[in-house]
Amino acid sequence: MLHLELEKRLHAALLSVHPAASVAAVRVMPAPDAKFGDYQCNALMTLARELKTNPRQLATEVTGKLEVADLCEPVEIAGPGFLNFRLRPTAVAAVLAAAARGEHLFFQPAGAAARTYVVDFSSPNVAKPMHVGHIRSTGIGDALVKILRRLGHRVVTDNHLGDWGTQFGMLLLGWKTRLDRAALEADPIGELERLYREINALCDDGKPTFDAAVREAAKNELVKLQAGDAENLGIWREMQRLSQLQFDAIYGRLGVKFDHTLGESFYNPWLPGVVEDLTARGLARASKDAIAVFADTLWPEGTSRPAPKDNPFLVQKDGEWVDLPALIQKSDGGFNYMTTDLATIQHRVREWSPDEIIYVVDDRQAPHFRRLFAIAGRWHPDWTAKTRLTHVGFGKICGADKKPLKTRDGNTPKLAALLDEAEERALALVTEKRPDLPLERRQEIARVVGLGALKYQDLLPHRTSDYVFNWDKMLALTGNTAPYVQYQFTRAAKVAREGRANDQGSIAKDQLVLAAEQELALAKLLLNYGHTLERTALDYAPNFLCNYIYELASAYSRFYDNCPVLKAEEPTRTSRLVLCELTAQVLQDGLGLLGIETIDEM
Ligand code: ARG
Repeated sequence: MLHLELEKRLHAALLSVHPAASVAAVRVMPAPDAKFGDYQCNALMTLARELKTNPRQLATEVTGKLEVADLCEPVEIAGPGFLNFRLRPTAVAAVLAAAARGEHLFFQPAGAAARTYVVDFSSPNVAKPMHVGHIRSTGIGDALVKILRRLGHRVVTDNHLGDWGTQFGMLLLGWKTRLDRAALEADPIGELERLYREINALCDDGKPTFDAAVREAAKNELVKLQAGDAENLGIWREMQRLSQLQFDAIYGRLGVKFDHTLGESFYNPWLPGVVEDLTARGLARASKDAIAVFADTLWPEGTSRPAPKDNPFLVQKDGEWVDLPALIQKSDGGFNYMTTDLATIQHRVREWSPDEIIYVVDDRQAPHFRRLFAIAGRWHPDWTAKTRLTHVGFGKICGADKKPLKTRDGNTPKLAALLDEAEERALALVTEKRPDLPLERRQEIARVVGLGALKYQDLLPHRTSDYVFNWDKMLALTGNTAPYVQYQFTRAAKVAREGRANDQGSIAKDQLVLAAEQELALAKLLLNYGHTLERTALDYAPNFLCNYIYELASAYSRFYDNCPVLKAEEPTRTSRLVLCELTAQVLQDGLGLLGIETIDEM
């Protein structure tokens, strides 16, 4: 928090010596290493270049005018013009005191700078089980949503279910000709999956099982569905209902909620209009019997085109650049994923006029989003001028062999089974450590720890890297794991609770004293919570928050080992109690934003 105050004063000092300087890019940030102090500004070199002056001299002039003696030691100029700030313990204590009075939790809500976001995440396909990969979009998306909201932004969440498309022709045919009612009763999604697999194998002309008549029949069912046939619509709705039950059960366990669940089918009424409009504007044209967007329809001769290598509508083939058109209407009249996504942008812009739409979707769809955003930008430049379109991609979850994670029988693990296993494994660990607790209590701890561990493991690596799934590592009580952070929370919360009980809730928080190295280190980390949230939101990267709460938990552990709290003399006792209380609050808040619960004992 203090970095914002330092920044403000630095801007004032800069403007007093160079009234025309553009100070917006001059930031004060947590120092990368404590040997540079607590905060650092490394923007003066760039600014000096703009002002055509010498950076060291600019730094000297500015620090001469900078009034920060109440907050930090004399500012140090390092190297070519870095500014290093070392906070005074009294200034740190004052921020802590305000937090202890409930005035803030180390961040400033966006206020007038609040933006409106639409976040499209999770978005599984109907009639299929949610699998391990869905933890990524669901977890990363949910964390970003919670963080943006915490920072005071307006966020609309939308689960863009895959509930329309060719697969329903096969599913309908399967339902009508091969449905096993008892199996449907016992495991609806399993049965739908089986029907799809069986029919799909018959419809695939690359397979020995191919049966042209079946393919024809499936196609007919699809055409009837698209034409609004009552029976097919009824079955299709039943499939939606069964799938939604599955999704709801999983979202309930994960604690994830959506404002809207507008599946692909919601956009059906607008699809013909999208294609007509794009065609009328010359942005799409017929290609054989289909309609598609091409590089030359988007950027006709004479307009400024992206270079071929940056043009998502071209691919290189035998050294030549050839067209890679984006289909928006198939030869049979059906529409494409792209068409639906275009209609979706139209709807979102009209409905919510967001500043940004964020798509939390697998990196493998990056080419789709590049094309989608390019079409949207040419179709309605006014939309993309106002609304930023962002694909927040993510990598794969791998097994120990570094290949995409599979179960022993070679299938993709189902999400529900993974959640069960996380809880079971955590229960075994809790039972080992705390056989004294009643089963129900152990189960509750196991739920919080197991699901927390699974989510945290997924959020900890930078989202674009692949990671190796590892039960033992994620559930370990030491290292950068959810159980470790959750455990440090229980310790901090316990001390705070006991302290409060002894003081009947009245702690004088105005004269906090921070003296011990571990106290100061912990306190200064608390101050950086807000900066961490901003940074996490800016990069759409929850790993920043994970690493921060791990650091905070570790700093708390060092403090706890070195600094007695309840037995200390005043004012140390109260100061340390406040540290415990605020650490518990920030750990709980930070974990909460990651979608991870805390519990009082472990
Ligand atoms: N249902 C899609 C899939 O499973 C993801 C949808 C992502 N969102 C979007 N607007 N395209 O691949």
